[in-house]
Amino acid sequence: MKVVVIGGTGHVGTYLVPRLVEAGHEVVCISRGESQPYLPHAAWNQVERVFIDRAAEEAAGTFGGKIRDMQPDAVIDMICFTLESCQHLVEALRGQVEHFLHCGTIWMHGHSAQVPTTEDAARQPFGEYGIQKSLIERYLMREAHLNNFPATAIHPGHIVGPGHIPVNPAGNKELDVFEKLAKGETLNIPNLGMETVHHVHADDVAQVFMLAMANWSTSVGESFHAVSGAALTLRGFAEALAAWFGQEADLNFMPWDQWKETVSEDAAAGTWDHIAHSPNASIEKARRLLGYTPRYTSLEAVFESVQWLADHGEIDIS
Ligand SMILES: NC(=O)c1ccc[n+]([C@@H]2O[C@H](COP(=O)([O-])OP(=O)(O)OC[C@H]3O[C@@H](n4cnc5c(N)ncnc54)[C@H](OP(=O)(O)O)[C@@H]3O)[C@@H](O)[C@H]2O)c1
Repeated sequence: MKVVVIGGTGHVGTYLVPRLVEAGHEVVCISRGESQPYLPHAAWNQVERVFIDRAAEEAAGTFGGKIRDMQPDAVIDMICFTLESCQHLVEALRGQVEHFLHCGTIWMHGHSAQVPTTEDAARQPFGEYGIQKSLIERYLMREAHLNNFPATAIHPGHIVGPGHIPVNPAGNKELDVFEKLAKGETLNIPNLGMETVHHVHADDVAQVFMLAMANWSTSVGESFHAVSGAALTLRGFAEALAAWFGQEADLNFMPWDQWKETVSEDAAAGTWDHIAHSPNASIEKARRLLGYTPRYTSLEAVFESVQWLADHGEIDIS
């Protein structure tokens, strides 16, 4: 198949594009040309790179037409963030593609009631990002069910892998949290540390996309979580990471209002976003219908990322 990947040089594309090439697909990667894949791979020599700024083309009303004119059999949209943007593309591709795969997020759930959260749970999204992703998913599923538009939505958790910073045990992306755990220093944790984060290795997200394509009749009109087999509590995460560094975690639990004063405004906002969602998503549907078997646990994925940060001088864990 000819597969167009919109935003193919990012976290997920780094693994997905080589997987697509290895599976024998003709791959076109759309990006602005500002970023390169996180890891080198010989498969990129066989990929057609097309530089398009989606935002600019959408503003001009020409983005969907440009993608359609490439005559793809399948389109994988990694970077759609508003309902309007999705509608523009779907209108252009209606009746033109065999499969349309959208990258969403588990944030589309918002507050969970029963965990692990399943794909059919009632949506209670909050925050503009989660609300828009939820609207996109709803729109795509209706298009699939009512109008036979061949859409599948895949919802990753916190994406992890070499080259980028994992969400840490304080629920944000501050690098000093890793250093404190590595050095056996006291780490302040909000509340009781029982709120959760749910990581996934970028290659496991790529695996779900590949399985959805290989199981077309099962995946069209469906949403799937793409997360590791189990979420982590902040406390358990901190203890496991400290142990990986050869330390015993020295954790200081603080009520939210006090804790947030100990970090920057940005870090507090990041933590709030993560703990307010406290994601804990089920992979049972992807396992049952697609045969998804994550290669990485949350901790294995994080350890790989943290090792990369240390090897590249981003954190000092000596
Ligand atoms: N990060 C997470 O933890 C997380 C969690 C859940 C869901 N998600 C979802 O994952 C998706 C992002 O995937 P990712 O993390 O693999 O992407 P990413 O690492 O953010 O990479 C973005 C890709 O899109 C390209 N791009 C960015 N802006 C563009 C534009 N205006 N026009 C054309 N290309 C553009 C970038 O290349 P250039 O810079 O060269 O243009 C790059 O190829 C999003 O839908 C997000 O909601 C992410």
